Amino acid sequence: MKAVVQSRYGSTEVLAPRDIETPVVGAQDVLVRVRAAGVNPADWAVTQGLPYIARPVYGLPHPKVAVRGTDVAGVVAAVGSAVTRFAPGDEVFGSAPGAYAELVVATEETLAPKPAGLTFEQAAAVPLAGAVALRALRAGDVGPGRHVLVNGASGGIGTFAVQIAKALGAEVTGVCSAANVDVVRAIGADHVVDHTRDDFTRGGARYDVVLDNVGNHPLSRLLRVLTADGMLVPNAGQLENRWFASAGRVLGAHVLALLGRRVARPFVVTVERDDLIALTELIAAGAVVPVLDRTYPLSEAAAAVAHVGRGHARGKVVVTV
Ligand SMILES: NC(=O)c1ccc[n+]([C@@H]2O[C@H](COP(=O)([O-])OP(=O)(O)OC[C@H]3O[C@@H](n4cnc5c(N)ncnc54)[C@H](OP(=O)(O)O)[C@@H]3O)[C@@H](O)[C@H]2O)c1
Repeated sequence: MKAVVQSRYGSTEVLAPRDIETPVVGAQDVLVRVRAAGVNPADWAVTQGLPYIARPVYGLPHPKVAVRGTDVAGVVAAVGSAVTRFAPGDEVFGSAPGAYAELVVATEETLAPKPAGLTFEQAAAVPLAGAVALRALRAGDVGPGRHVLVNGASGGIGTFAVQIAKALGAEVTGVCSAANVDVVRAIGADHVVDHTRDDFTRGGARYDVVLDNVGNHPLSRLLRVLTADGMLVPNAGQLENRWFASAGRVLGAHVLALLGRRVARPFVVTVERDDLIALTELIAAGAVVPVLDRTYPLSEAAAAVAHVGRGHARGKVVVTV
């Protein structure tokens, strides 16, 4: 089968289309014929092997999982003997390492039926970004009447967060660049701040929840724009520091949380079935529609990952197979 294989760390040129063995299906496995695979900043980070401190986790001296991509939408091709929830022919979406390929192996726990009415491209855009947005808003206890600021509102996670926060009854302010103001307004934001003109951390507005998907302001400045019982949800990693990335910021957030400051503990999301079901319900209710920036064919997966790596995707980027 065709797959986009990475045999060493480096720029996105290391992602090369190749013919590799079809995966073997174990008893617990669901083999998915991939129709579309979402692209996340993590794909770019693992391609580069950044931050260096994470390489023992990614794999030394090259990535343990040679095929990038984790978000998938496709059709079940085969199931293992212990699989009960899925059968060949089912349309599914979810999480599966090695999704930039014609076939990928997943487990029942990380898949769900593809939401009715979504294309495979739209469905592949949902899993990780949607799950992070959902969990971040839960961490901030977002609900009716709460005023939520989403920094990075036009990105993969931000476009889900704006829509889910609105569905939860919140008033939403989205922060993005001038080029994306219309998109953020169109998905329901009540207010939009253009970060190329205004710095929300220096204005007089106060927010019950700040969801930070960018990490471009010190935590202390983000805390200053919270209401008295507000909550900061830090969810961003900058990779300028090639050794440690945002480890210092993550540590700082943990310390602030320990000290009783209004900071949610940083979290790493692995997509679970419950996330997919909750997101499917929001999609079925018409509250969430994935925002697609653009799609790339599998043979151009490297360009798709490079586009996301530049940090200004408008919604989600998807690889089609
Ligand atoms: N906790 C977890 O498990 C988890 C999982 C996945 C991702 N993440 C992290 O979450 C973050 C966001 O991920 P994503 O998938 O949403 O990334 P993304 O799709 O690349 O979006 C990044 C967004 O940041 C915005 N941005 C860039 N500079 C900005 C600035 N100065 N002010 C405001 N916005 C700015 C961009 O908007 P403009 O182009 O409009 O500026 C872009 O839309 C990343 O750091 C990623 O590592 C965490």
